[in-house]
This record gives sequence, C-alpha cells and structure tokens, in this order.
Amino acid sequence: MRTTIHQIQRMKEAGEKFAMLTAYDYPTAKILDEAGIPMLLVGDSLGMVVLGYETTLPVTMDDMLHHIKAVMRGAKQALVVGDLPFMSFQADGDDAIRNAGRLIKEGGCQAVKLEGGERVAETVHRLVEAGIPVQGHLGLTPQSVNQLGGYKLQGRTPKAAVRLLNDAHALQQAGVFSIVLEGIPALLAQRITSRVSVPTIGIGAGPHCDGQVQVIHDLLGLIPDINPRHAKRYASVAEIIGDAVTRYSREVRDGAFPSAAESFGPLERVQPVEPSKEASPATP
Ligand code: KIV
Repeated sequence: MRTTIHQIQRMKEAGEKFAMLTAYDYPTAKILDEAGIPMLLVGDSLGMVVLGYETTLPVTMDDMLHHIKAVMRGAKQALVVGDLPFMSFQADGDDAIRNAGRLIKEGGCQAVKLEGGERVAETVHRLVEAGIPVQGHLGLTPQSVNQLGGYKLQGRTPKAAVRLLNDAHALQQAGVFSIVLEGIPALLAQRITSRVSVPTIGIGAGPHCDGQVQVIHDLLGLIPDINPRHAKRYASVAEIIGDAVTRYSREVRDGAFPSAAESFGPLERVQPVEPSKEASPATP
C-alpha cells in the first residue's frame, strides 16, 4: 500500500520522525522505495543536480513530467510529490490548477509542492479544493534566488521570523498537508513546528522538524564539488563510479574485458583467410 498524506499526518501526531528524499529517475526511485523511504520528492532541484543548470529557474513542466514519470515507474510504496517549476503557478491560479493537474494526471504523482507563503495561499486553497494535495515550501525558496540575493539563511530578524510564522499559518489555513522549511534557524523551525498542526519537513532547518528532506545527490556524494552545510554525506558514490569506469577502461585497453564469462561461444580467434582465397567479386 502506498503511503498517504493521512499517514504522514499521523506520524506527526505520534511524534514519529520521518525521512524524505529527492529522486529523479527510475533506478534511484526503486532503491529508495525498497529501502522504505515513505515520501519522495521529484524536486525542481533536478535542474541543478541532473541537468547541470546553475539555478532551478530554467526547469520546465516538460522536464518535471519526464522525471516524475520515471520515478513513478520505480516507486510503488512511497508518496511521490512533484514540484511545480518556476512560473508554472505564480502568474495566475488557473495556470496553477492546469499545471498541478498535469503533474498528477500525466505524471502520476500523488501531490504537488509549491514555494511561497501568504501570497500563494489562495492558489493552494484552489488546488486543495480541486482534490490535489499540496506541500508548502518556506524560507530559502530557490525559485526566488534573485530576489533573496543568493542562497542565504532566511528568517534571521524578528520581523522575518514573524513573517515566516504567518506564512506557515496561511499555508495551513489554505489546506497544505505539510510544509518544507528550508534554510532557517533551528529555533524558528522548532517554533513553527510546534505552532502548526501539519508536519514540517526540514532541510537546513535543524533537528526539531517533524521530518527531514535531503537531495539524494548530496547524501550520496554524487557531485563532490557541491557540499552544502546542511547536508551529510553518507557515501562517496562519485568515487565508486570513477574507480569502476577507470577499471573498465583499463581492462578494455588490456584485452581483459570481455572475457569468456561475458562472451557467447568459443573465444578462439578465427584463422585469417589469405587474400588470394577470398571470393573475388563477380565480374561481368
Ligand atoms: O527541489 C527540491 O529538491 C526541493 C528540496 C530541496 C526541498 O525543493
């Protein structure tokens, strides 16, 4: 049975912390799903960690749909959340409904995520009324990187902290089933977590949130040059891949690969045919 938004809510009520991870492709989604991760996010971070852009801003609806479909083929148990990319919901509510509807209907995910607080509350309300579960996202919202002036910690002044608290209340009121809190002080995240009844999911927001979300590439060390402070590297997969392909390349050059084990039929070389005995092309 696939995890539901109601189970995620019950985890908060039971004080049970949970892990969420990003996934962007079939094999990764399958591994994370089989490891029992209850919620996967096809984040627009795919623009940076999969497509190589500098920000998430160029990510399109087509990019999101392509990757959500792949993840859905691999994830059979997890609740899958699809991110609404930049400018797919900001311009107007009708756009938001159409685009969120596409992620659910064509992509096959169970919920959508969008960035913003009070200013998107009306849109969230309309999506929820249309039957689409919505996850909010507050704090360091990467789609506003140009407005924020970089990837900086948010909610540091009392005024900014109150604004974030109000944003969280507005999202809850609008019907979100959970809120991602990114890049804010741990004590502010704790305060928001204790004040809202829906689960909060932190990334760079300290240990007091109800759940935690991480970008899978950070966790696995897939892009060694990217090592954000909020991430913990649980493996060095880039090194493992580098070693494996170096060994493969060496074995191809040395003639050690493929061996009998990777070949079909006997490996004895066929005797070269003398040119004079080769059939000459028929002459007219
Ligand atoms: O796009 C993403 O991966 C995200 C997470 C970092 C929360 O929004």
